Amino acid sequence: MRVEVLLVVTLIIGTNCEVFTSLASMEKMLQAESNVSQQIREYIKAEIERLDALEAIAEEMEQHSSQALVSPEDHLANPVNSFLLVKRLTVDWNKIVNDYLVLENKVSSGCIHDTASVFPETIDLQGAALGLTRIQDVYHLDSETIASGSFTEQNTTEFTAGDCYEIGKQVYFQNDHYHSILWMEEALVRWEKESEKTAEKNVILDYLSFSYSHFGSLRKALNLTNDWLAIEPGHERAIANRRYYERIIAEADDAERQKLKGDNGAPVVDGKPHRFLTDYTGSKSYSDYEKLCRGEETHKRPFKHRLVCRYQRYHPIFYISPLKEEMLNFDPAIYVYHDVLTDSQNAIIKEVSRPKLHRSGVFSKTDADTGLSNFRTSQTAWHDDSTHPLIARLSQKASAISNLTLETVEHLQVLNYGIGGLYEPHWDFVQGEERNEFSESDRNRVATFICYLSELEAGGYTVYPTVGAAVVPRKNSCALWYNLMRNGTGDYRTYHAACPILYGYKWVANKWFHEGGQEFVRPCGLNSAE
Ligand SMILES: *[C@@H]1O[C@H](CO)[C@@H](O)[C@H](O)[C@H]1NC(C)=O
Ligand SMILES: *[C@@H]1O[C@H](CO)[C@@H](O)[C@H](O)[C@H]1NC(C)=O
Ligand SMILES: *[C@@H]1O[C@H](CO)[C@@H](O)[C@H](O)[C@H]1NC(C)=O
Ligand SMILES: *[C@@H]1O[C@H](CO)[C@@H](O)[C@H](O)[C@H]1NC(C)=O
Ligand SMILES: *[C@@H]1O[C@H](CO)[C@@H](O)[C@H](O)[C@H]1NC(C)=O
Repeated sequence: MRVEVLLVVTLIIGTNCEVFTSLASMEKMLQAESNVSQQIREYIKAEIERLDALEAIAEEMEQHSSQALVSPEDHLANPVNSFLLVKRLTVDWNKIVNDYLVLENKVSSGCIHDTASVFPETIDLQGAALGLTRIQDVYHLDSETIASGSFTEQNTTEFTAGDCYEIGKQVYFQNDHYHSILWMEEALVRWEKESEKTAEKNVILDYLSFSYSHFGSLRKALNLTNDWLAIEPGHERAIANRRYYERIIAEADDAERQKLKGDNGAPVVDGKPHRFLTDYTGSKSYSDYEKLCRGEETHKRPFKHRLVCRYQRYHPIFYISPLKEEMLNFDPAIYVYHDVLTDSQNAIIKEVSRPKLHRSGVFSKTDADTGLSNFRTSQTAWHDDSTHPLIARLSQKASAISNLTLETVEHLQVLNYGIGGLYEPHWDFVQGEERNEFSESDRNRVATFICYLSELEAGGYTVYPTVGAAVVPRKNSCALWYNLMRNGTGDYRTYHAACPILYGYKWVANKWFHEGGQEFVRPCGLNSAE
């Protein structure tokens, strides 16, 4: 609009060498003046509309943030809220910038830009969508259950068709057509019910038909493309796709036709997508990991009844207040200690960690493109004992509990997990070439001491798929196990994982003890196979 006003003005200035020559041309000037005034009015009208819209946006943002800021941890404990926050500040915000702010260049210059620099980025949106799909897989929740918020008894938010579409789109671009189908289907269902549409049906059908065709479900893809063409009859790609699907279906031989008829091109069975499993996710150990996360039993554990809780006083610091020990597994030994920290100590550890949080790296399996691991979804802060007297005291306590020296112990690692945050099954000790990670004198990680700084409402267990044990995180309790046999060989039974958070806010603190310096406190056994 403003561009047009400027154009008119320049035209007039550009021709001013002859305007004084006749009254007739001055009449034109009057006409132009009138035109300009009208255009200014139109510009003002458009500006007022724009400002009204911006005011409504500001009001909506105020309302959303003030409600959530009453208790941010409670609000963000719900993965649906967390996902929506990330979406609001990425796709929704970009739309606001494009529609209402770019004109004035407010974003690239003014204070909004500085504030918006803490906004999430596209990769965070991808991560958030991935987090939801992990929750879905591990806890057997369908998209409808998550989208309607009925997986929790808390007051919860629902997803709109547009939200479901956004999840479907994010995972589609990560080539995850299975989850894309689940979320696009949900987007369609919600779209039909919406009085104020939050997505475009033709666009949903575009993605959905492609994802079905990706799995060889050509009849389904054809049907969806026809629905799409009913909305956009002239769409060239839709027409080309229809022609393609029809040709392939017609050319299929009898056997293939039989297959297409049932749409059995895995993983779509009877028109319904089935979870796609790789060798890794289809393995027994992976399925045990998921079962343990859901609180199911995976192994017969004959000695389970002998696992007891008891008070321990084996170190002077436990004389006055004894250690509350729970034996979780005998061999390999896994212990859980309760009330190791107090609430105020816990709060201090989180407080000193907040400013230091960075996205975690791992030793292996990191994504070559981003350098970030896409299977470990947390942020990390490291503290040496000088950070705070309390951190030093926690080290002392970990040493007293484990009977290990602090000579080669790692700094305290504090982790805060994100949406559906997890750490897939792994060992804490290093093997083969990774051994170079640790120095000659420190050597391998002999024991892991992990403290839970928050209690989760659902999910987030630490599980051991090889032995069938699970630690339910309780605030201020810590778990301990030895990663190595006495002869220094890695104990493969300590394979463990952090399950995705289903509902809650997860903080943990890790302390890894190394072999160096433990020669006298944890000597080799008499037998080299011990
Ligand atoms: C003013 O507007 C009228 C109608 O919109 C148009 O015909 C005319 O050419 C315009 N005059 C100038 C000088 O822009
Ligand atoms: C849920 O919302 C209702 C009203 O919207 C309110 O009365 C109730 O206290 C809320 N419950 C929780 C657990 O927040
Ligand atoms: C696609 O399938 C649905 C349900 O099976 C049906 O209602 C719809 O009419 C079909 N669309 C076309 C264009 O064939
Ligand atoms: C530490 O040593 C004491 C005996 O001195 C023993 O009772 C206790 O179980 C040991 N703790 C661990 C974690 O092995
Ligand atoms: C250590 O003991 C385990 C079994 O207890 C055995 O498999 C492994 O080979 C032993 N390692 C060495 C270096 O002797």
